[in-house]
Amino acid sequence: MQHKLLNLVTKSAKQSKAQVFSAVQPSRYLKDLDKQQVGQGKTVLITGASSGLGEGMARLFAKLGYNLAICARRTDRLESLQSELVAAYPNIRVEYRALDVSDYDAVFKVFDAFAADFGTIDRIVVNAGIGDSRRIGKGRFDTNRRTVEINFISALAQCEAAMNIFRAQNSGHLVVMSSMSAMRGLPKHLTAYGASKAGLAHLAEGIRADMLLTKLPIKVSTIYPGYIRTEINTNAKPLPFEVDTDTGTKAIVAAIEAGVEEACVPSLPWSIVGQAMKRLPLQVMSRLS
Ligand SMILES: NC(=O)c1ccc[n+]([C@@H]2O[C@H](COP(=O)([O-])OP(=O)(O)OC[C@H]3O[C@@H](n4cnc5c(N)ncnc54)[C@H](OP(=O)(O)O)[C@@H]3O)[C@@H](O)[C@H]2O)c1
Repeated sequence: MQHKLLNLVTKSAKQSKAQVFSAVQPSRYLKDLDKQQVGQGKTVLITGASSGLGEGMARLFAKLGYNLAICARRTDRLESLQSELVAAYPNIRVEYRALDVSDYDAVFKVFDAFAADFGTIDRIVVNAGIGDSRRIGKGRFDTNRRTVEINFISALAQCEAAMNIFRAQNSGHLVVMSSMSAMRGLPKHLTAYGASKAGLAHLAEGIRADMLLTKLPIKVSTIYPGYIRTEINTNAKPLPFEVDTDTGTKAIVAAIEAGVEEACVPSLPWSIVGQAMKRLPLQVMSRLS
């Protein structure tokens, strides 16, 4: 049974061996990378690092030896994360800056300031996001517009700022945090949120296509998380196949380290659910969501 599932994952995502290992056993894969300290001398910039997946990723990347450039609006949280990480890993450097990603000019300024601080930024994770969307046509354009602006337009600003840096360096790894809700148009409160994340996934694929066309050595990864319990869904009832933040961030960091182009995380069951979502008739899909 497990063998069959593994084959399905491999086939569906056209992955390399390392990518399959990272998907099926993310903890073991990360342990190996930890032993090698793969991040030594490299820097990862993460937006939305003050809670949830961003904070979790910062902890895991620090463990792998990476220097960190972290930002968000809640700087008190960034400050304590910085103290925690430099105490635990004295060989790494952690810098933080306040950033509201809806202030587009600030996105460019903060990213450039981090690049000046560290000299080189090896990876940028476009992670900041909100999940507050509502049924369309129910008088909540304000909420839906804000979600689309933060999750798509602000993410575009972050991708622009990241790619400026990577083009100048002629190297880099852009990672965007999409969502399983990007797989199809979804009903109820997920319509605008899912559309914003589908837009982001499309944007990342376009940048990847451009890198192939221009043969620039810049990698682009799109991560599609399933339900991971964080502040974004703090008041939600039990969610299908939900995992805790630690399990979720391990799956995400393993996929990023394996250099996937696209990954549904955790891989099981979400890579299979993703295939089903793309194929099911819309009527069936709407009932399941
Ligand atoms: N958890 C899940 O189940 C799940 C599933 C699919 C996709 N995702 C995506 O994963 C990403 C991280 O979400 P999470 O689950 O970790 O949620 P979270 O715990 O609520 O974290 C969201 C992060 O985004 C930051 N953020 C929000 N608005 C911002 C703004 N205007 N400017 C700067 N930073 C802002 C927040 O920092 P401040 O408030 O301090 O600014 C916070 O650090 C999001 O893009 C989300 O859509 C999550």
